[in-house]
Amino acid sequence: MKESRSWNLLGEMIYGGDYNPDHWPEEIWIEDVQLMKEAGVNLVSLGIFSWAKLNPAPGVFSFEWFDRVMELLHEGGIKVNLATATASPPAWLWKLHPEIGAIDADGTPFSHGGRQCYTPNSKAFIRYALELTQAIADRYQDHPALVMWHVNNELHGNGPESYGELDAIAFREWLQARYGSIEALNEAWGTTFWSQIYSEWDEIPPPRKLTTGANPSMVLDYKRFFSDAYIDFYRKEAEILRKATPEIPVCTNLMQLYPKIDQFKIIEDCDLAAYDCYPNPIEAPGDFLAISADLTRSLTPDAPWLLMEQVTSQVNWQPPNTIKAPGVMRLWSLSHMARGSDGVMFFQWRQGRFGSEKFHGAMVPNAGPDSRVFREVCELGADLKKLKPVVGSTLQAEIGIFWNWENLWALETSDKAQVFNHTEQIQRLHEACRDLGLYTNFVHPDNPDLSRYRYLILPCTYLLTEAQSKALRDYVEQGGEILVTYYSALVDENEQLYYGKAPLHLRELLGCWVEESDGVESNDHNALCFEDGTEVPCGFICETVKPEAAETLASYRSNWYQGEAVLTRNRFGKGQASYLGSRPAERKGWADVLQRVFDLEGCGHGFAVQPDLDILTRHGAGGERYTFFLNYASENRSVDLGAHEGQDLLTGKALRGELLLEPNDVVVLAELA
Ligand code: GAL
Repeated sequence: MKESRSWNLLGEMIYGGDYNPDHWPEEIWIEDVQLMKEAGVNLVSLGIFSWAKLNPAPGVFSFEWFDRVMELLHEGGIKVNLATATASPPAWLWKLHPEIGAIDADGTPFSHGGRQCYTPNSKAFIRYALELTQAIADRYQDHPALVMWHVNNELHGNGPESYGELDAIAFREWLQARYGSIEALNEAWGTTFWSQIYSEWDEIPPPRKLTTGANPSMVLDYKRFFSDAYIDFYRKEAEILRKATPEIPVCTNLMQLYPKIDQFKIIEDCDLAAYDCYPNPIEAPGDFLAISADLTRSLTPDAPWLLMEQVTSQVNWQPPNTIKAPGVMRLWSLSHMARGSDGVMFFQWRQGRFGSEKFHGAMVPNAGPDSRVFREVCELGADLKKLKPVVGSTLQAEIGIFWNWENLWALETSDKAQVFNHTEQIQRLHEACRDLGLYTNFVHPDNPDLSRYRYLILPCTYLLTEAQSKALRDYVEQGGEILVTYYSALVDENEQLYYGKAPLHLRELLGCWVEESDGVESNDHNALCFEDGTEVPCGFICETVKPEAAETLASYRSNWYQGEAVLTRNRFGKGQASYLGSRPAERKGWADVLQRVFDLEGCGHGFAVQPDLDILTRHGAGGERYTFFLNYASENRSVDLGAHEGQDLLTGKALRGELLLEPNDVVVLAELA
């Protein structure tokens, strides 16, 4: 991973948004730069969807208008996060190479006019995309405004998995590289099932429309393959940019919980983690903001990261298109900074006049600068200037939650004891951690540095390799503590069940095994009963857990397995390993379980925990502490600062004793070393 604290070449909090000057005449560009200066903008992401304008015909480039924009921005002191502009292929390319279009699983081709509806397995598409990337790199590599490269846009975001002939050919090449021989593939996929045995590579189709469930090993490989295809495309563009400007950071905008692309893999070739965030304001946004930011931070846990896109007010594709009330944009923006972002960017700078996003919010709304939104944008810009001391500091998490995309893909293939929505399960668990004021990172099971975490949680870590199980065993032996949940460690990397008592490779560590997994009809179908009489409703899946060396902490309330173990704990080496055989019905239930399994004394922010009040501390390299207090509640909150005292970076006021926060208020307590 290219992890460094120094990707931020601006040395201050980054502020700005996507800029689409190709939608406007030059006089508006001039006004734009003036308004950007007024708002405190210091960076714009330029030209993300400008392929057709920059490259109007094969081999023809039109950069003069773009030169002028770059010059105006530079004169105004605005830096540029320059896009490779390859996210939306132009009509001429579709006409010349109709085969670049993605094909649905039922054979329906996607048409030109949306965006990203290409397949990355088209060599023609890649050739033209790289030609454009090269032309942009050649033209602007020495431009003084250039401080960051933005590859494509939300790779595999709107881009579907494609099932055409080009995809089939590329899939077979990918399979040959992975398995080496057709025999090894047959073995890995268990193709004796339903007579699926392959004799030649060209017999293997992509998992197109079928009458029944597809081979889950094949489906898992197709997801890996498609994620790899996009990552490979990213790498090819990044390589051109790095060659041209080795000192300029390269990134792309990732999508937090988005299921299609393996973000732990793509981050290896990114100089920073950057992401886009669009919570729905009417659903508990604080929870969504928290998990999204934490997941992004976890990609480069020792470095700041960047909020690349959010919206000032309305999101057109989220009906109803709800307005953010005054103060909400500021709260949400600063919540990202509290969790480690070194800036705030928006989609987009100026509201569009046409196209399907014309009702999407922007920093400058259609009403112009004399508007509530623009005034709030300017105020936020001023706030960010005051947060300069926080640049480069990081938030360190003490609890690791296992999460990886391969496990998600494997778990969500069909035909299990339940239909899993793994993201939703993770959200409930993360909400419980947030309620307890804990700091969490998401951790890939291959992470070589598990010991940095005081506790590890493995929620439904269905796919766990033998090597990963061994690493966990070492972690616990050395004093680590883990909580493993239902449906964990059941299959290997090929999605084949381990033969024997589950979870086979964790059995000794957990001191228990699981006999049966009951998919039950509701989330509170049963309950965990503790010896002190406490009951925690549970359901979804109820496993019959058989303790061996482990002690039983809770047993089932009802059903024919009433009284059987559901939560166990095993002391192993210097640590301990707990197993939870069912899913707590609510976030409160998760919190109860965490508190019983782990000793949480001294974990988290250390202030009194209150609902809808986030308290997060970033640490500077010299020992400085920047504690963000963010009030999501609709009433006032007051915090006893105890021994902490310092200055609020936003107001300059001295803080000690009791801190009062009104709804939407944010305070940043700076304590110098
Ligand atoms: C993002 C995308 C932007 C814009 C935005 C609208 O997913 O990267 O280009 O479409 O959504 O919310």
